[in-house]
Amino acid sequence: MQITLTRPDDWHLHLRDGDMLKGILPETTRDFGRAIIMPNLVPPVVTGEDAQKYRARIMAQLPEGSDFRPLMTLYLTEGTDPEDVALAAKSGLITAVKLYPAGATTNSDSGVKDIENVMPVLEKMAEIGLPLCVHGEVTDPSVDIFDREAVFIERVLAPLRTRLPDLKIIMEHVTTKDGVDYVSSSDNTAATLTTHHLIINRNHLLVGGIKPHYYCLPIAKRESHRLALVKAATSGNAKFFLGTDSAPHTDPAKESACGCAGVFSATNTMSCLAHVFENASALDKLEAFTSISGPAFYGLPPNASKITLTKQETPVAYPAKIETGDGPVTVFDPDFPLFWRVDQV
Ligand code: DOR
Ligand code: ZN
Repeated sequence: MQITLTRPDDWHLHLRDGDMLKGILPETTRDFGRAIIMPNLVPPVVTGEDAQKYRARIMAQLPEGSDFRPLMTLYLTEGTDPEDVALAAKSGLITAVKLYPAGATTNSDSGVKDIENVMPVLEKMAEIGLPLCVHGEVTDPSVDIFDREAVFIERVLAPLRTRLPDLKIIMEHVTTKDGVDYVSSSDNTAATLTTHHLIINRNHLLVGGIKPHYYCLPIAKRESHRLALVKAATSGNAKFFLGTDSAPHTDPAKESACGCAGVFSATNTMSCLAHVFENASALDKLEAFTSISGPAFYGLPPNASKITLTKQETPVAYPAKIETGDGPVTVFDPDFPLFWRVDQV
């Protein structure tokens, strides 16, 4: 069995910097044409100038012959200047702005505490058609970690949606049926879905011993939510597209008494997704999810080149870890053998 797809894009990716960037970048450029690059470095990518410099560092590490294009984002802070954002968008340097609620996840301390304080930026973005990528979780300590996405929709996203109907919003890494239902019924709103949230539920994380390499934010939810995500991804609904949220941390940082959040799935994502879509009898919807619906929402053309996926008799051998100058990074283990091989056409 073999299928040919328009080269996919990753609409949510963490590339980090320095030795880590160098070590993990080829894992994405192998299969993907473009990726939305998350700005949560330390310090974060806040201004147009920051984004320009970060883009140059990424370009300098591209493997020989790669035509991969990093699509840059700015990290929204309460001090962000709307004019700087508009200028960076106009020059084509940035593709979106990322909203992290302060304290929600890795390197989000400089994020937004009160959405009122960023309204001038959001109004400018609505005016110029620049999309907002949202980490959709509240940080209120009284809200249970498994409820933080649903509560965010009610308290933050729905009011913002009503207030700025022209703002393009991407609810990143949706993990709940609540998120799927909200996005399905809201205009000008799309969602990315990660590879790992289509495959694991919270039992994978917690049953039979705690599995730090399955720990990410938003945290994996119960099985009924995972099934809602698979249904959305495989439906062909153009509001839902791939954003892996592949987020490398070294093994010591993950395998710790206070382990970092993040699943690294860049290496085997396309094989994992082919498995998920085949199981859902929806291989014909895979290309929309990985290669067509994302660019359509962002107003970009699909990639010109192609990849093929071939189902082998024997499992594809992926490395368990990627060695980087910062240390080893464990590759996402889907907990089933992968038979779909990726080839560049
Ligand atoms: O699990 C996560 N890891 N979720 C995020 O939102 C951030 C990411 C990271 O940067 O490691
Ligand atoms: Zn992320």
